[in-house]
Amino acid sequence: MEFDTIILGAGAAGLMCAAHAGGRVLVLDHARAPGEKIRISGGGRCNFTNLHAGPGNFIGANPHFHKSALAQYTQWDFLDLIARHNIPWHEKTLGQLFCDDSAKQIVAMLLAELTRAGAQLWLHTALIEIARDDSGFRLMVEREGTRQTLRARNVVVATGGKSIPKMGATGLAYDIARQFNHAITETRPGLVPLTFPDGRFTGLAGVALPVRVTCEGTGFDEAMLFTHRGLSGPAILQISSYWREGKTITVNLFPDRDPFQDLRQQRQSAGRKNLSTILAQMLPGRLADHLSETLKLSGNLADQSDTALRALCDQLTGWTLLPTGSEGYRTAEVTLGGVDTGGLSSKTMMSNSVPGLYFIGECVDVTGWLGGFNFQWAWSSGFAAGQAI
Ligand code: FDA
Repeated sequence: MEFDTIILGAGAAGLMCAAHAGGRVLVLDHARAPGEKIRISGGGRCNFTNLHAGPGNFIGANPHFHKSALAQYTQWDFLDLIARHNIPWHEKTLGQLFCDDSAKQIVAMLLAELTRAGAQLWLHTALIEIARDDSGFRLMVEREGTRQTLRARNVVVATGGKSIPKMGATGLAYDIARQFNHAITETRPGLVPLTFPDGRFTGLAGVALPVRVTCEGTGFDEAMLFTHRGLSGPAILQISSYWREGKTITVNLFPDRDPFQDLRQQRQSAGRKNLSTILAQMLPGRLADHLSETLKLSGNLADQSDTALRALCDQLTGWTLLPTGSEGYRTAEVTLGGVDTGGLSSKTMMSNSVPGLYFIGECVDVTGWLGGFNFQWAWSSGFAAGQAI
């Protein structure tokens, strides 16, 4: 069978590309259902974009590569699309936009757009082999137990990253990239909880508080959550994308005020109170107990000199921690790194060396922050390739 374009992967990027590619388009996916990550995202409500999305919210070896696609299809374009499909939405926090009802509405919308564009969708279809000759690409696929050969002028690789293998994530995009001599930048789990040795925080599991977390000069002001295995919550997921093995993270437990003045005032008014009792008024109780123990706090507030209070505050606002690892691809929301952008056109997402071969979405070395940015990259890069085709 002959197509103009075959898109590998019916996820966010592949479906968006199919709606804009034109001509005879086939989308194929090994999963039983399209857009599975969309369906489960944002707790079932899909954080589909961010009001403040801009180039600064993305990580990749080339900090300029993603600018063109993001400018071609912005968060406002996606909002127009969901308005045309009458999908109600709301801003939760920090510009993060969610469906009022269900993420399934986003999948249904993309499928409606795919149908409107006249594209075909084959699910439960595996790619066995791909090769290129003078007239384009030849793909051997297996569908419902039968192998067949397909031909296409263009192939768009939209099979995502390695995160959550249980949901069908594979390294297919990287294999195809390598086959066609494209470089891959180091891939790592991103937006992932960080782990610590010896059950250090087990007693704190469930405690959450707003913090500022920094690593290597980058910082995020969001909530942090203690878990049985370590630290999670938006602040930690964000910083995990900047953290590397062997590096420390620094947690400021008082992100919007210096506790020093508070403590000095309380020394006047409540000097006879125990230092750990005072701490328990300023922080969640279990965390205050943990800190009192690890920092070996003792004595009344009145016994503390300014120097001692300053030293304590420095520890509370600069709590330095050395994670041993992360929860890995099992729970990571995204894969950092991927197909090296040096080999791709930033305007069209097409390979510079293999005409007709495109890479879009998460498989490319462009990773967004937490908060709807990764879907925006999928929409933007999918649109850019679709338009170019
Ligand atoms: P995506 O993974 O969506 O699609 C790839 C498709 O390719 C899948 O359908 C897969 O089955 C198929 N495929 C893979 N290997 C194949 C093979 N060998 N053969 C055939 N098909 C193959 N982002 C965000 O902005 N807001 C959010 O709320 C969330 N929430 C969220 C929650 C969870 C739990 C996860 C894991 C991730 C998120 N994300 C997110 C990230 C977001 O889901 C992700 O960045 C996009 O889905 C990436 O879109 P892609 O189309 O590139 O890949």
